[in-house]
Formats: sequence, C-alpha cells, structure tokens
Amino acid sequence: MLRTMNLSTRFTVLLLSVLVAGVIVSGVILWGVLEARAEADVTEKGLILTETMNAVRSYTSNNVSPQLQRELAASEVFIAETVPAFSAREVFENFRADEEYANFFYKEATLNPVNPRSGADGFEAELVEQMRNDPNLTEVSGFREREGAQLFFIARPLSINDESCLACHSDPAIAPANLVATYGDDGGFGWELDEIVAAQVIYVPAEDVFNAALRSFFLLIVIFVAIIAAAVVAINFLIRRDVVQPVGVMGGFAQKLGEDEIAAEDLESTSLAGLAGRQDELGVMAQAFQRMMKEVYTRTQALKKQLESLRIEIDAFQRDAQVQEVTDSEFFQDLKSKAQDLRKDDEDENDDE
Ligand code: HEC
Repeated sequence: MLRTMNLSTRFTVLLLSVLVAGVIVSGVILWGVLEARAEADVTEKGLILTETMNAVRSYTSNNVSPQLQRELAASEVFIAETVPAFSAREVFENFRADEEYANFFYKEATLNPVNPRSGADGFEAELVEQMRNDPNLTEVSGFREREGAQLFFIARPLSINDESCLACHSDPAIAPANLVATYGDDGGFGWELDEIVAAQVIYVPAEDVFNAALRSFFLLIVIFVAIIAAAVVAINFLIRRDVVQPVGVMGGFAQKLGEDEIAAEDLESTSLAGLAGRQDELGVMAQAFQRMMKEVYTRTQALKKQLESLRIEIDAFQRDAQVQEVTDSEFFQDLKSKAQDLRKDDEDENDDE
C-alpha cells in the first residue's frame, strides 16, 4: 500500500506509525517506572511510621511505665499510659489530627483485644492468620480499600515475646484488679508465650501518590506526543520543500523533453534556475538537468533545420525526376518524332518551291 502513496504521505504514515508504537511502548515502560516509584514512596512512608511507632512503644515500656508503677499499683482505675499499645495509638491519633495526615491509620489489629478499638476487622484477621500459619513471614504489604479510601498497608506480626506480658494477658484472675475493673474480663486474656496475637498495621493513603504518578504520566506522554508531532510536521514540510517540489519541477520538464515539447522559454524557467542555484545534491542534479535540456533543445533544433533543407532537396529532386519521367515516356517520344516529321515535311515543301 505504501508503494502507491506519494512521498510526503508515505513519510507521514511511517512517522505516525513510529509515533503510535513509540507512545505505546514508552507509555507502558513509563507507567511501570512511575508506578514502581509511587509504590516505593508509600512503602517508605509506611516503614518510617512503623519504626516511629515502635520507638514510641519502647519509650513507653522503658521510660514511662517504670515511673508509673507505684501510682498504677495504688490506683483503682487502670493507667493506660503505662501500656505501649495505648501510647502508640494515642501518639498516632495526635499525628492524624493534622488534616494532611487524616487518612493515615495505625492499628495493633488484635483477634482478641483488651480495648475494642484495637479489634481486627475481617481483612486484618486474615493477615494475623496468615502470619500465624507462616512464622517466617515478617512483613506483608499491599493495597486495600478502607473507609472509602485506597490505602497502602504494611503489616508486621506482634507476638507475646516476653513472660512479663502474661501478668496482664493470661488469666483475668491473676491480672491486676484495676485492669479487670476498667476493661472487664472479656478480651485480651488467654494469650500464650510466643503466640502471634496481633498484626501491627500502618495505612498510608495511596490515592494521592498514584494520582500524582498518573498526572506525571499524562504530562510526559503529552510532551512526548507534542515533540514527535512537531517532528512529523517539520519533516513533512522539509520533504515537500526540498524533495517533492524540486523533483516535481524536474519531472514536469522531463515529461516535456520526452514528448519533444520543450520551448525556448523553458530553458530560462525561473523555477529550474532557482533549483540549480542550490548547493545540495538536488541543486547539482538540477544543474545537470538544465544542461541536458539545453543540449537536447539545440540538437533538436539543428536536426529540425537539417531535416528541412533535406526535404527541400528531396522536393527538387522529385520535381526533376517527374520531368524526366514525362520526357522519357513513349507518348512524349512519339510526340517528339511527330513534331520532327512535321518540321521535315515543312522543309521539303519549301525546297520544292
Ligand atoms: C500491666 C498490664 C499489661 C502488661 C504487662 C502488658 N499489657 Fe498489653 N495491654 C494492656 C492493656 C490495659 C491494654 C489495652 C490498652 C488500650 O486501652 O489500648 C493492652 C493492649 C495490648 C495490645 C493491643 C490490643 C488490645 O488488646 O487492646 C497488645 C498487642 C498488647 N497489649 C500486647 C502486649 C505485649 C506483647 C506485652 C508484653 C511485652 C503486653 N501487652 C504487656 C495491659 C498490659
């Protein structure tokens, strides 16, 4: 099909095919890169926040809790500030109070929680089960929808890693009285050493990050398409001006030449002279073409003149030949002899007189 098209259309079709293929290939690669970057971005945020929460937890158990032991023992109400799970959650709620971070969440998602706000939902319960079934699983991450937002999560197993935990989490009968009085004896008991009881989950809003990636993606694609489109237009223009038009001019004269229709004024054609003035390959070709045209024209003119004089000669020759033919004919010879006879008779008669 390409063969039947003219030059500039052929180039346009080729360049546009390259454009489309280029946009598809680079689009796929670009989106892969941007998506990976967005995911790396949310992962990093999630990891930093998880580590921060763990720092809060250690601070609580190492610095806060020991200071409050006497007060806790004497208090009728349990002092939740001594519990790492509580302080981590409270600190994170303060962090979320800033509107910018309202869509971040932190939860020590527990199957059987002391405080119901830490209860695992269906999705989180599955994560805990998954971690219980595979002790080598130290981290799970991915995406989920929560409260209408698309979130990226990082989850780590939380296990009863110390004998001291059992003082409050094994049996309500041995747990501090103020704990049972404050929270009741329904949840957070019966835990065993080394048991994975919860998943420490951090949620990072992914929508904004991915929307930003999508915006960068479209911006880059638009820039890419614009550059290629400009190149297509420029190349098309150059091909028309530098190749198609000159070749068209020379082609027109070549046709005239072939049909012997070159006139004297064609030799002075400004379009051809303009082309011949160019310094490039087409200019050289146009100069050669111009010379060739002049040569052919002068030769043709000379040939025509020769032909003309030849024709005149032939005409004269033919006329002579015709006369010869007439004089050589029998009738003419007969007529000639008769005329001689008549002349002779005349002479004889005169002699007689
Ligand atoms: C002095 C008692 C006490 C000890 C010791 C204790 N906890 Fe707790 N734990 C609590 C209380 C009370 C809560 C609920 C805090 C709240 O209101 O969020 C809690 C909450 C938790 C939670 C959050 C889920 C839930 O049930 O609300 C986890 C997980 C947890 N504890 C694990 C541990 C581990 C692991 C240890 C040992 C390193 C430990 N706890 C030691 C009293 C204790």
